[in-house]
Amino acid sequence: MTMLEHHIDEVVTLLAGARRVAVLTGAGISAESGVPTFRGQDGLWKHYRAESLATPEAFERDPALVWEWYEWRRGLIASVEPNAGHRVLAGWEDAFEEFAVITQNVDGLHDKAGSRTVVELHGNIWKLRCTREGTVEEIRETPLPHLPPICPSCGALRRPHVVWFGEALDPAVLGRAAEISRAGQVMVVLGTSGLVHPAASLPYAAARAGAKIVEVNVEPTPLTPQADHFLPGKAGEILPALDRRLREARAA
Ligand code: APR
Repeated sequence: MTMLEHHIDEVVTLLAGARRVAVLTGAGISAESGVPTFRGQDGLWKHYRAESLATPEAFERDPALVWEWYEWRRGLIASVEPNAGHRVLAGWEDAFEEFAVITQNVDGLHDKAGSRTVVELHGNIWKLRCTREGTVEEIRETPLPHLPPICPSCGALRRPHVVWFGEALDPAVLGRAAEISRAGQVMVVLGTSGLVHPAASLPYAAARAGAKIVEVNVEPTPLTPQADHFLPGKAGEILPALDRRLREARAA
C-alpha cells in the first residue's frame, strides 16, 4: 500500500464516522475541467492584472474592458463540463446527514454537477447585477447581445455579480459559510491556495470548533501544517478514490 493510499484510508475512516461534512473549494477543483486557476503556473493573474480587471475602480474606469474579460471567461466556462471531482461532491449530498459545498469559484460548475447545497462566497459569473437598483438576473447566454450590458428597467450599467478585490462579501453568505464550517465534524479543503480572506480563514474557524481538516491540493499551502490530513494530488483523482473506498467501507 502506498503512503497516499494509507492516508486515503485514514480519511475514509474519518468520513465514514462523520454525519456533518463541509467542503471548501477553490479554482483547483475546476482546473481539470479546463478552467484556469488564478495563481497556478498558467494562472489568470500571471497573464492579466487583477487591478485592471477585477476591482470596482477598474469597472468605473473601463467597464467595456472588464466586460470583455468576463465575457471571455463566460465563453470558456460555457464550453467545459464539471469533472469527476465535482460529481463526487454532488453525490456526497446524500452520503452524509449534513453536507454543504462552500466555494470561492464563480463558474457554477458545482451546480452543473448536481450539487444542491452550494454557498457561493464570491458570487456567480452567470449572474448580472444592476449598478443602480442592485437587482440580480441570471443570464447564461454567451456572448451577451450587448457589452457592456444595460439594466432593462433603469438603463444603468450591469456588472458581473461577483466579489471583486477590495469589496466585502455578502454578510449573509459569509455568515452561512461560517456557520456551516463551525458545525462540520470534517472540513475537506480542495484546490485553494488559501491566500484570499475571508474564505481562507474558514478552515481555521472549523478547526477551532473541533472539525478535522482534510486538505487536497497538488502542492502544500499555508494551511497544510495545520491540516489533520494532507492528500497530495489532483481533486479529480483523489475524490473518486476517496468515494470508492468510502462506499467499500460502508458496504463492509
Ligand atoms: N487539484 C487540486 N488542487 C489543484 C489542482 C487540482 N487539479 N490544480 C491546481 N490546484 C491548486 C493549486 O496548487 C493552488 O493551491 O489549486 C489552488 C488554486 O489557487 P488559486 O489559483 O489561488 O485559486 P483560489 O485559491 O480559488 O483563489 C481564491 O482569489 O483571485 C481570487 O476571487 C478569486 O476566488 C478566487 C480567490
